[in-house]
Amino acid sequence: MTLRTLDALGPLAGRAVVVRCDFNVPLKDGAITDDGRIRASLPTLTALLEQGARVTVVSHLGRPAGTPQEMYSLGPVAARLGELLGTSVAFDSAPAAETPTELADGAIRLLENLRFDPRETSKDAGERQAYADELAAFGEVFVSDGFGVVHRKQASVYELATTLPSAAGTLIAAELEVLERLTTRPEKPYAVVLGGSKVSDKLGVIDALLPRVDAVLVGGGMLFTFLAAQGHAVGGSLLEDDQLDTVRGYLQRAEELGVEIVLPTDVVVADRFAADAAHEVTAADAIEGTPFGASGLGLDIGPETGRRFAEIIARSKTVFWNGPMGVFEFDAFAEGTRAVADALTRVDGLSVVGGGDSAAAVRALGFADDRFGHISTGGGASLEFLEGKELPGLEVLGWQA
Ligand code: 3PG
Repeated sequence: MTLRTLDALGPLAGRAVVVRCDFNVPLKDGAITDDGRIRASLPTLTALLEQGARVTVVSHLGRPAGTPQEMYSLGPVAARLGELLGTSVAFDSAPAAETPTELADGAIRLLENLRFDPRETSKDAGERQAYADELAAFGEVFVSDGFGVVHRKQASVYELATTLPSAAGTLIAAELEVLERLTTRPEKPYAVVLGGSKVSDKLGVIDALLPRVDAVLVGGGMLFTFLAAQGHAVGGSLLEDDQLDTVRGYLQRAEELGVEIVLPTDVVVADRFAADAAHEVTAADAIEGTPFGASGLGLDIGPETGRRFAEIIARSKTVFWNGPMGVFEFDAFAEGTRAVADALTRVDGLSVVGGGDSAAAVRALGFADDRFGHISTGGGASLEFLEGKELPGLEVLGWQA
């Protein structure tokens, strides 16, 4: 079966439509620091509003663990969405109002964070269904467009799509079109750049991609587990001890398959985790040799590694990148991420930035979206897609890999 798209729902003028978006945006002191996910929702929402549909948008924000908390309110998102759409977006604090008030044709409202109700993320299918039934009261049809959350079997992603006639919005359709090119016909050479903090989150994708790619470049906090697996001391850097054997297995398998796993040759080591920390560049096998000794923390890849990664990326025809190379939020440790982002803009082929953090990083470093082939709105979702996992939120819309 193929993905059901908006046409499957028929004319939507005057009809009440519930739209699931992923507005899980980064916030600092109540202000949105990257509105990319809100912008990405505009094509679907505009198309619906222009047709005269009555649109109720639902989303989660963060992980409030089933209780209302002001810091996770979608209020700032409603305001930003209204600015971007150029229309007023009503903000309704009650996702499960008994009798939803009717909207006028072409009007839009956003409901408060779905995860303020524990049933949204409940493990119990009955509880999720009960919540989906309440959400279904807001519409006659359902449009699923939160690509970033399709890997979650949650009430508004899965059960709601089985409760109302449902279809994917244009964001999901566009994301799939690009990500499918990575899984079915990537032009070679194909390089994958992985960073971020948790090696355990990325092992599945390394495993799935090894037979298909030419090089895997490893940076970010996870690189220290790779260095430790090769027998190097990593000081106080992030380390997932329980993954060392698995990582050794991948290094071995990559060698057998002739795939290069490219590890940093130098890193930036700091005396503490702070923007103004004292820091030094050192060889990747001499992390404890700096004045900070065994307490030194690796917070970025070094300049030599940045250049090497950039060369490999820029000469590839297909590149997928997930996860910052260092603590890019601090200027002193942003260079590795900048080098990788800059190299991606020079790819003569398809460059894909996958994920919330990497997308936020490239924008924070001043790169315009249109310098990349595609910036995915899904972090975990795009990784699981590349791993070839079944994604409940896509499967329920008719998608089959
Ligand atoms: C994301 O940011 O990856 C999505 O919004 C999913 O969020 P979650 O990991 O809290 O489910």
